[in-house]
Amino acid sequence: MKKKAIILGIESSCDETAVALIEENANGVPSILSNIVSSQVDIHKEFGGIVPELAARSHIEKIDLIAKKAIKESGKKLEDVDAVAATAGPGLIVCLSVGLNFGKAIASFLNKPFIAVNHLEGHALSPKLVTKLDYPYLLLLISGGHSQYLSVQGLGKYKRLGTTIDDAVGEAFDKTAKLLGIEFPGGPFLEKFAEKGNPEKFKLPLPIINKGGCNLSFAGLKTAVLKISKEIKTKKDKYDLAASFQKTVETILYKKTQVAFKEFQKKNKKKRNIFVVAGGVAANKKIRKILTDLSIKENFDPIFPPLDLCGDNAAMIAMVGLEKFKIKKYDSFDHPAKPRWPLDSKAIFLKGAGVKL
Ligand code: KG4
Ligand code: ZN
Repeated sequence: MKKKAIILGIESSCDETAVALIEENANGVPSILSNIVSSQVDIHKEFGGIVPELAARSHIEKIDLIAKKAIKESGKKLEDVDAVAATAGPGLIVCLSVGLNFGKAIASFLNKPFIAVNHLEGHALSPKLVTKLDYPYLLLLISGGHSQYLSVQGLGKYKRLGTTIDDAVGEAFDKTAKLLGIEFPGGPFLEKFAEKGNPEKFKLPLPIINKGGCNLSFAGLKTAVLKISKEIKTKKDKYDLAASFQKTVETILYKKTQVAFKEFQKKNKKKRNIFVVAGGVAANKKIRKILTDLSIKENFDPIFPPLDLCGDNAAMIAMVGLEKFKIKKYDSFDHPAKPRWPLDSKAIFLKGAGVKL
C-alpha cells in the first residue's frame, strides 16, 4: 500500500484566480477535494479583453481568500498538504508572479516541496483527474492562447505535430463574438448564438486547409468575419454569421485532426490510440461531437475533460504537481515565472504572416 498524497494547486496565469486540493488514494487514484475558480470576467468585460495590470491586482486581492475557501471546502488542514504546485508559465508575467510567489511562500512555511507547473501541461493532464490515461496519446490543446497538436509521450515529454501560425482558436471565437456584439468572453456565448443561425449562409475561408500538415491558421477567418460583420444588419444575419463561423471552425478542426491522426499513427502503430482534446475551447459541444465521431471512425479513443475542467482551473495544476511529486521532481524557490514556456522546447517558433509551412 502506498501512502496517500495531498497536493495544493494554484493557478493565476491569466484571468482566473484558482486554488484546488487533490488527493491520491492508496491505490493511486486521484480525486478532487476542492476546486475553487474565481473568474475576473466582470472586471475585464467593459474593456472587451484582459487588462494585465487589473488582472494582477485582482489576483493579489483574492488569492488568500480563494485559498482559504479551497482548504475549508476540502475538509483538510493546511498542514495535511504534502506539496504545493503553482503555475509558473506561460501567461502574463504580472499575473503568474502572484500565484507563483504565493505558492512558494506556502511551501516554505509548511517546509514541503514546491513544484512549478507549466499551465499547458495542466490542460494536457486534466483528464487524469477523472479517468485513467496512459501515455502515449495524441493531444489537441485548444484554448484562448494556444492551438496545438502534440504527441504526449510521458510527463514533460511532448512532441509538437502542429500549431497555429497566427491566432489561437479561442481568440478567434472571442474576436468574432466581439464583432457580433456578444459580451466578453465570447466563446461560450457565441456557441449559443450559433445554435440559432444557418451555418450555410456565409462562406468563410478555411486557411491552409490543404497545406502545412496539421498546422492551423485562423487569422484569415477572423478578417473575413470582420468584413461581413460590417455589411450585415439584422439579428438573423448575426446568428447566421455565428453559425457559419462555428461550422467553419468545426471543418478546420475535423480536417486537421485527420492529418494529425495520420502523423501520430506513423510513430504509434497500435490498433487503437488515445486522442485527448483539452483547453477552454474543448467545452464547445459541437466540437466535442464532431471530434468524437471522427475518433471513433478512425480508431482513436476520444477523451475530453468534463466541461468544468476544460477552462482554467487549479485542479489540473495540482494534477501535474502530483505526477511530479511521485517522482520527486521538485523545484527551487528561485524558479522564475516564464511568460513563454512551450511544451516542446525543440519545436521551431511559428507565428505570423510569411511563415513558411
Ligand atoms: O483554457 P482557457 O480557459 O484559457 C486559456 O488558457 O486560454 O480557454 C479560454 C478560451 C477563451 O477563448 C474562451 O472563449 C474559449 O476558451 N471557450 C470557448 C468555449 N468555452 C470557452 N470557445 C468556444 N466554445 C465554448 N463553449
Ligand atoms: Zn488555459
